[in-house]
Amino acid sequence: MKTSRTLIFFVLLASILGPLACSPLSVSPTISEPGSATHPEQKKTYEDLIVGYAQLGAESEWRVANTLSVKETAEQLGVELRFFDGQQKQDNQIEAVRKLIVQKVDIIGIAPIVETGWEEVFQEAKDAGIPIILVDRRANVPEDLYVSYLGSDFLEEGRNAARIMANLVDGKANIVELAGTVDSAPANDRYTGFREILQSYPEIQIIDSQSGDFTRARGREVMAAFLQKYGNSITAVYAHNDDMALGAIQSIEEFGLRPGVDIKIVSVDAARGAFEAMIAGKLNATVECNPLLGPQFFELALKVVNGETIPKWVPSIETVFFPDGASEILPTRKY
Ligand code: AHR
Repeated sequence: MKTSRTLIFFVLLASILGPLACSPLSVSPTISEPGSATHPEQKKTYEDLIVGYAQLGAESEWRVANTLSVKETAEQLGVELRFFDGQQKQDNQIEAVRKLIVQKVDIIGIAPIVETGWEEVFQEAKDAGIPIILVDRRANVPEDLYVSYLGSDFLEEGRNAARIMANLVDGKANIVELAGTVDSAPANDRYTGFREILQSYPEIQIIDSQSGDFTRARGREVMAAFLQKYGNSITAVYAHNDDMALGAIQSIEEFGLRPGVDIKIVSVDAARGAFEAMIAGKLNATVECNPLLGPQFFELALKVVNGETIPKWVPSIETVFFPDGASEILPTRKY
């Protein structure tokens, strides 16, 4: 009697669950055959990846090289890249991230134009299960809102620029500073790192500091205004990037002074334009900031998508360059 009741129970159960097992709503088994498409251990490859990238714009030689590195690497690896150009506006970058969330990409890379104002949209990505890698620039957000930062040590770049400057001017100068985009990570850190070192040089004064927004045109305008205001008393320029230094060189020449000689110039990036200026004797040094981050970015992205743990900061390896040897190095420069 007991046996037949148990049998009836299982027959009923099977008649309820049976159709479900064949319906489109049925869930894939959690244990599958090795090598089957649904095997939980199966790793994604580059060809499986859909990667979003929210670039900030195209303000400099550096940025153009950075974009090219990301696009070329995606193509070489067979990654499907959804690329957005923020055209120098944070709102556009935020909108891009939101679009990428809707598109359900596997992972998002972003070069945040400024440090602040990202928490809400990064939280939205996190809630949607889409990891974020900060590329090139940091954002001021809690650490759980991004998986990693891939990029330079901007503070150290500022310190290196100051060490070189102090040496160049023999511990005595009136410096004007062409700063990068206001509230951007490189502008904030290059500003701070530079001052950290110069504290030990009482005869070096930073007489003025204005943003040139990382562009050549603004660098030129701001330098022209500095020259109008301070004239010959300016003895050195610290530019947060090469583009602004190249703009400043034009203004200094228009003012009738010799860049690199009457006014010493140190900048950051080590782009090809800086090497040309060093060869021409118009720029005294450039601190490298590496934009060729594409290969490392996609390597990290694949690891994250496959559940691997990656470091919270993957620093770029960088050096400094002087006019000495610049003509031999120029042909080898990739940006
Ligand atoms: O974030 C890196 C900086 O951004 C580079 O120094 C500058 O050239 C670019 O615009």
